[in-house]
Parts: sequence; structure tokens; C-alpha cells
Amino acid sequence: MQSPFRSDLLQGQTVLVTGGGTGIGRGIALTAAAHGANVAIASRKPEHHGVVKEIEAMGRKAHAVACDVRNLDQVMAMAEEVETRVGPVDLLVNNAAGNFLAEFKDLSPNGWASVINIVLNGTFNVTKAVGQRMLERERGSIVNIVVSYAWGAAPYTSHSGAAKAGVLNLTRTLAIEWAPKVRVNAVAPGPVFTEGAFGNLAMAPELGERIIDGVPLKRLGTPEEIAQGVLFLHAHPYMTGECMTIDGGQWLNHPMFKLPDSIGGP
Ligand code: COA
Repeated sequence: MQSPFRSDLLQGQTVLVTGGGTGIGRGIALTAAAHGANVAIASRKPEHHGVVKEIEAMGRKAHAVACDVRNLDQVMAMAEEVETRVGPVDLLVNNAAGNFLAEFKDLSPNGWASVINIVLNGTFNVTKAVGQRMLERERGSIVNIVVSYAWGAAPYTSHSGAAKAGVLNLTRTLAIEWAPKVRVNAVAPGPVFTEGAFGNLAMAPELGERIIDGVPLKRLGTPEEIAQGVLFLHAHPYMTGECMTIDGGQWLNHPMFKLPDSIGGP
């Protein structure tokens, strides 16, 4: 895929992506490297650390740390290791997430806590550890990955919706508290084809067709397209507290009148 950005956009910068070994996070890690960045990823499972080799093959520094974002001690140690091995972080991408489909009535307290702890408390932990270092240096930006249901309703993903809504609010709050030293933005992906979404969420491939039907641009997004939004928000010096939706127009698409194609209906 052709990038809209110069290939040296992030030359010499250090990017840290949580959950950077798979899915959208992996796409962000690779896209950052393709634009000159040295990249660290933090992910729970060492078997997801193969992206490091791909980044090194591009001639960049890369390092992976096994870290559960729910554990503040691990996160603090990860922040130290990333700074020593790769460099002070210029762009932190809070991407690590957990999700599964369940009706609220069937959701156990532990199921709820598990997703809230990864998404909301994990973002708190990593922002405490890495974001505060940026604040002290008065340099860098943060992009939080939310989701297009963060400001609407999230049937079957009440845990994820509540957590992502919290992250979106934290994004805007820190944008004010940390201005002008550190900018904080968010990207809200719509449906993207990843192993996580279509494997962990146990979505049947046919469901993909139904989802695409509701997307005005008539396809799923790609991890690279989400990554390009992240790069834009990091590079733009006058944007903070913004949430960029990248969803092919999906969340807006609730027409009052469902018109037939012949007269221009979606
Ligand atoms: N439906 C209902 N409950 C579920 C569930 C499902 N599909 N998957 C997990 N849970 C519940 C478990 O039953 C457990 O609750 P219980 O103790 O009351 O039974 C609780 O969630 C924690 O499960 P566990 O497997 O111990 O969680 P974990 O902390 O190891 O894993 C998850 C975190 C639950 C988010 C898991 O789905 C995961 O690791 N997913 C991979 C990453 C991911 O989802 N990425 C996002 C893709 S969009």
C-alpha cells in the first residue's frame, strides 16, 4: 500500500506500541518502521515477537518486551528497558486490548474486570510509566487506539465499550493537563480484518460480508490504514485531544430512508 507520507517522517524517532506483535498493533509497528522509526513493542506473548525481525530487516532498531499491561511493576520495568535498548519514546501507541463477544447478562465479574483491566487500566499503567517520562522531557506524543463504538452503544461488547469510552475521555483530559508539553490523541478504527477480530471474537467469515454491507466504502479497513492515522496525529503539531475515526464511514451510516441503489441509496 502506498503511504501518503514521506518515508523519513519518523526518522530517528522511537515508537513504542503496546500489543505491537499482532493485528492493528503489528501494522502500526511496521508502518512506523517503514517511515524511519526505531520500534519497541510490548506484548504478553513471546511467540508474538516475530515482528522484531521484520523491523530489523528494514534496517531499524527493534526490541520486544514481554509485558502484561495490567501489571504496573512489569510496565515500569518495560519502560526502563525500552528507553535503554531503543531510546526515549517519542510516540507511545496504547494499542493493547482484550475483547470477546458476550451479552451483558452472561458476562461474569471476572470477564468484565479482565477487559477493563487490559484496556482502561493498562492504558493508565503505560501512560503513567512512559507518558510521564515524556512529560518530564517535554517531548513526545501519545495516540490511544479506541474504537468507533466508544461514544455510542456496544451490544455484546459492553466491557470493551465502557473501557474504550474511558480511554477516549482520558485522551481528552490528558490533552489538556499535559498541554503544551505532550500531545494526546486517539484513533478509532472501525472494522479491520485481523486475527484478533475474526479469530478471538469468533466471528464467522460470513459475518464479514454483513459488516461490509453497512460500510459506505464497502470494504474492511487494513492495519496500515489505521497506522497512517496514528502517524498523522503524531506528526501534526497543532492537534491534541482529537479522535480520528477511520471506519469507511460505518458509524455514520444509519439512514432514516433506506433508498434503493437506483436513486443513489447506500
Ligand atoms: N465469553 C464469555 N466470557 C469469557 C470469554 C468469552 N468468549 N472469554 C473469556 N471470558 C471470561 C472468562 O470466562 C473469565 O471469567 P470467569 O473467571 O468468570 O470464568 C474471564 O473472562 C477471564 O478469562 P481469562 O481467559 O482468564 O482472561 P485473560 O485475562 O487470560 O484473557 C481476554 C483476556 C479475556 C480478553 C481474552 O479474550 C484474550 O486474551 N484475548 C486475546 C486478545 C484480544 O482479545 N484482542 C482483541 C481483539 S479485538
